[in-house]
Formats: sequence, structure tokens, C-alpha cells
Amino acid sequence: MKEIDRHEAFELASPFPYALAVTLDKRERPNIMGLSWWMYTSWNPLMIAIAVAHDRYTHECLEHHREFTLCFPSEGQGKDAWLCGMKSGKDTDKFQETGFKPVQSKIVKTPLIEGSTVAYECKIVKHIETGDHTLYTADVAAIHGNPDRVNHLYSIHNSKLISIGSTGKIKLDL
Ligand SMILES: Cc1cc2nc3c(=O)[nH]c(=O)nc-3n(C[C@H](O)[C@H](O)[C@H](O)COP(=O)(O)O)c2cc1C
Repeated sequence: MKEIDRHEAFELASPFPYALAVTLDKRERPNIMGLSWWMYTSWNPLMIAIAVAHDRYTHECLEHHREFTLCFPSEGQGKDAWLCGMKSGKDTDKFQETGFKPVQSKIVKTPLIEGSTVAYECKIVKHIETGDHTLYTADVAAIHGNPDRVNHLYSIHNSKLISIGSTGKIKLDL
């Protein structure tokens, strides 16, 4: 063991499951953000938390609409999913630019993304300020899945995405 910096630590601790948080802005236009700082926080009831930096457009959106969907992109969606972690909804319509297809949710107004392996509809119950991010905790209102899409995307630090299949086969998905 030796002392290392946070970048090296983040790289060594990778991969992290990469998700897309979909929100609605004040004009009810949907926005997508790439996100690896998410976690389950309760099993019963099922709850999820996401950490969103203060300067993200997603942060502004969540101030207007206290709900989001958390969609897990599947193998082959890496290029579009990556764009959502690189560009801001402040000046880009990411649904238009990526070609991701919105799908109507069952309970929340925010859409889901077609082709996700799993997608959660979430209603925020609380937020906690933590350093330069806000942690939003949310109840899961509905769950959707694609049993024929089993290969999730994982991020290595903030530099690449890989997909890992059920057979354990790993490949770059960018
Ligand atoms: C691999 C990866 C993981 C990321 N994880 C997070 C995260 O957990 N929280 C966050 O606030 N931003 C995260 N980001 C950065 C945002 O996705 C990025 O700043 C995005 O442009 C914000 O979009 P928005 O301004 O439309 O909300 C991540 C980016 C990448 C590439």
C-alpha cells in the first residue's frame, strides 16, 4: 500500500455502473445526464439516491420537478450515453442530439429511455447538501426492464465506458 491521489483512487476503484438521470426543466423539456454516483438506500420501501453537482442543468431541473427516472443504458448505447455525461442541457437538447427515444413513464411525468436494461421512476423525498453535490433520495414509484438486454455499461473514472456481459465478456462501448 502507498498513499495515492483521488484521481488514481477513482481509477483503481472503477468500474462503476453508469446510469442516465432524466429530468424535466421548467418548460417541461426532458434532459439526460450521465451519472455514476447513485446508490440504493433502502430495500423496503425501495429507495435510490443520486448525487448531482450544483452547477449541472439537472440540478436546476430537480428544483422545478422533484422527480427523475434513472435509466441504465445497454451495450451499443455507449456513444450516446457518453455524450450525456459530456454536454449540458443548458445548451444542448440531448434527446435530439443522441437519438435516444423517450418512452412514457407509468407514474412520473419524466420519460424513460428506450433500450435501457432497467429503468426506475423516482419521486424525491429529501435532499441533503454534501460538499459540492446535492444528494437526492427518492422513492421508486415504478420499475421497468428489458430482460433481453443484459449487458450494462460501466464507467472507468471519467474516461471511458465498458460493457460487461452475462458471460463475463468485457468490451469497450464508445
Ligand atoms: C462517467 C461519468 C460519470 C458522471 N457522474 C456524475 C455524477 O454522479 N454526478 C454529477 O453531478 N455529474 C456526473 N457526471 C458529469 C455530468 O454527467 C456532466 O457534467 C453533464 O454534462 C451534466 O449535464 P447537465 O448539465 O445537462 O445536467 C458524470 C460524467 C461522466 C462522464
